[in-house]
Amino acid sequence: MQKIWINDQLVPETQAKISIFDRGFLYGDGVYETVRVYEGKIFRAEGHWKRLRKSLKGIHLQIPWSNSNLTEACLRTVQANGLKECLVRITITRGKGEVGYDPKTCNNPSLVIFATPIRKNLLHLWLNGVKISVVPVRRNHPKSLNPSLKTINCLNGILAKIESLKENAFEGLFLNLEENLAEGTISNIFIIKNGVLKTPSLECGILDGVTRGAVIEASKKQKIKIKETKINVAELLKADEVFLTSTTMEIMPVIQVDKKPIKSGNPGPLSKILHKALRTLIQKELSLSKEFLNFRVN
Ligand code: PDD
Repeated sequence: MQKIWINDQLVPETQAKISIFDRGFLYGDGVYETVRVYEGKIFRAEGHWKRLRKSLKGIHLQIPWSNSNLTEACLRTVQANGLKECLVRITITRGKGEVGYDPKTCNNPSLVIFATPIRKNLLHLWLNGVKISVVPVRRNHPKSLNPSLKTINCLNGILAKIESLKENAFEGLFLNLEENLAEGTISNIFIIKNGVLKTPSLECGILDGVTRGAVIEASKKQKIKIKETKINVAELLKADEVFLTSTTMEIMPVIQVDKKPIKSGNPGPLSKILHKALRTLIQKELSLSKEFLNFRVN
């Protein structure tokens, strides 16, 4: 049976329980992170904890756990479940308090950590690419619920996902209220045109993805020109290559946007070069086996 970390201990799944008065359940009042574990090691834990702290500050929530407490809890959860290649989701809520939005009676945040294996068809998707759909629902305005905070208030993303599923798309792409590209429901987006890599700037109202940051670093190492800027749908449709990035997908080639194939409708060469460069960066940073560069998934 799966083991779950709750607050300060590991428990079997059947004993992993949270109160129905927890504000995570009642109001979506909390934050989360998803980290990737390669050969038992977390990729860019510090980057994830930095963003987690930003999210916590953004919702005015203080927690008693240090970054090293969180890292240790994640690794113990991974080990207890006998995993080496997996994703770990860390959820923190404001816990229980008097019913109502006023948070002042909430003194014990809840921490839940669980690990899940990597999706089985990832390699197939990398090789063949995916279709995405520009969804009619718009990304929250940064002055509303700021998309730079990774909160568990996910309905904006869920509504977009439902729209993308109607189009049989792998991912839904959000525009912002200026009708420029923002991000996917669980990913960031990049386009390539005439050898130049472009991605929506943080000012477009997006999550500052850990993978996005690593891909920008990798592209600089490859001497590929990169621009963080505003991008509109016309530019997206005319791109030579398009890909998504996230902790769960690394670099996922996009071969079609709604009804329009991207270029020839196949994963592009520069996306492949960048994925290799990203994997090299991960392999070096975590001292992984060389075999990792052969795009081994599990
Ligand atoms: N999602 N944008 C959104 C809205 C996201 O939810 C995510 C991550 C990203 C990519 O960020 P990163 O590279 O740090 O994973 C961008 C995670 C994987 C999730 O929802 O579980």
